[in-house]
Amino acid sequence: MQVAVLNGVNLNALGERDPALYGGMSLNELENRIYRWARELGLSVRCLQTNHEGQFVDWCHEVRSWAGGVILNLGAWTHYSYAIRDAVELFDIPVVEVHLSDISKREEWRQHSVLEDVVSTRVIGKGPEGYREALAHLSETA
Ligand code: DQA
Repeated sequence: MQVAVLNGVNLNALGERDPALYGGMSLNELENRIYRWARELGLSVRCLQTNHEGQFVDWCHEVRSWAGGVILNLGAWTHYSYAIRDAVELFDIPVVEVHLSDISKREEWRQHSVLEDVVSTRVIGKGPEGYREALAHLSETA
């Protein structure tokens, strides 16, 4: 199965952001882990990151032509981007929402996700391991 991992706004700054919330790994290190975990699970993965909402929407549309599963961490867009939510609603493949930090225990505005009702599964507050869990979930649904 081909899996797209789309990371959104500010996730390129991992490693510089609060390690108590997001861990100390850079995005590059995180993506290397994701590639390794995917190989172990027999999945083929492509990781992408952008800080531009329109680009993220375009990628959501594009990956529909080749991916069998998608893992999304929208960063702060999680809490307000109805444009991305509408793009995600178009997927007819399993979609896993991931957050490194436990958004359910943070500021009130972070506790709501616009994706909640359009994703297959959510993995929240498990740090980088959350991406492994998301990959495992997709490999089980393959
Ligand atoms: C995040 C949580 C969001 O609230 C925040 O804006 C992020 C990262 C997470 O992975 O924990 O940028 O999606």
